[in-house]
Amino acid sequence: MREVRVEGLSKRFGDRDVLVDVSLHARPGELVSVIGPSGCGKSTLFAALAGLVEPDRGTVTVDGRPATGTTFGYMPQKDLLFPWRTVLDNTALGLEIAGVGRRAARKRAEPLFEPFGLAGFEGSRPFELSGGMRQRAALLRTVVQDRDVLLLDEPFGALDSLTRTGMQEWLEGMRSQFGWTVLLITHDIREAVYLSDRVVVLGPRPARVRAVVEIDQPRPRELASAAAAAREAELLALLRAE
Ligand SMILES: Nc1ncnc2c1ncn2[C@@H]1O[C@H](COP(=O)(O)OP(=O)(O)O)[C@@H](O)[C@H]1O
Ligand SMILES: [Mg+2]
Repeated sequence: MREVRVEGLSKRFGDRDVLVDVSLHARPGELVSVIGPSGCGKSTLFAALAGLVEPDRGTVTVDGRPATGTTFGYMPQKDLLFPWRTVLDNTALGLEIAGVGRRAARKRAEPLFEPFGLAGFEGSRPFELSGGMRQRAALLRTVVQDRDVLLLDEPFGALDSLTRTGMQEWLEGMRSQFGWTVLLITHDIREAVYLSDRVVVLGPRPARVRAVVEIDQPRPRELASAAAAAREAELLALLRAE
């Protein structure tokens, strides 16, 4: 469990500003959501945190020290499972890329199949899994790397709404059980209110922080409660404000 602090992150591609002075923080074990209009720079923000995009300005620290290449476990928006690899080999892939041998990588991934609801599918191919299972496999591949902070870019964006609801409840259970610190991009306001300790609202590109909304409802929470509805309305108004 780690505390992450992003301060004054800015990024410009050519003459296009994408991120302007973006700051946010997550305390140990918190889940912080980032919402904002499509194309505003959310994925660019996470790519910068993950070290895939070099920011022009700003600092990222974890427990007060500069973030390094192994601070963040990053699950990109389009996270592909390789169709020719088994599910187990797909989930071991991130570790293998990080230099862990194939057998050792599989050994670390295997015990997570049960809590991730994938037991029995180790030898299956990705096409044999449901959409929700594929997303859990992609998340397992990220989590098994044992990084300080998880970056999840619209992990449930492609799922139908019933599957999505189940995955939100599952993620909430896993997060509280394992104590993950999570930064999550979503375009689903309900998801943000249900899962988050804090929601960072970005404006249209270039992304600036428009508001930071604390969600201080006790857990366990209910999806679609009356208290949640009020926060959802507040976030919707912030997103729509000119
Ligand atoms: N590598 C890049 N080079 C140039 N422009 C980029 C690059 N990556 C992203 N952009 C631009 O940055 C803007 C924000 O993109 P993105 O971060 O993917 O938005 P979001 O995830 O909020 O939908 C878009 O206008 C996109 O075209
Ligand atoms: Mg995106």
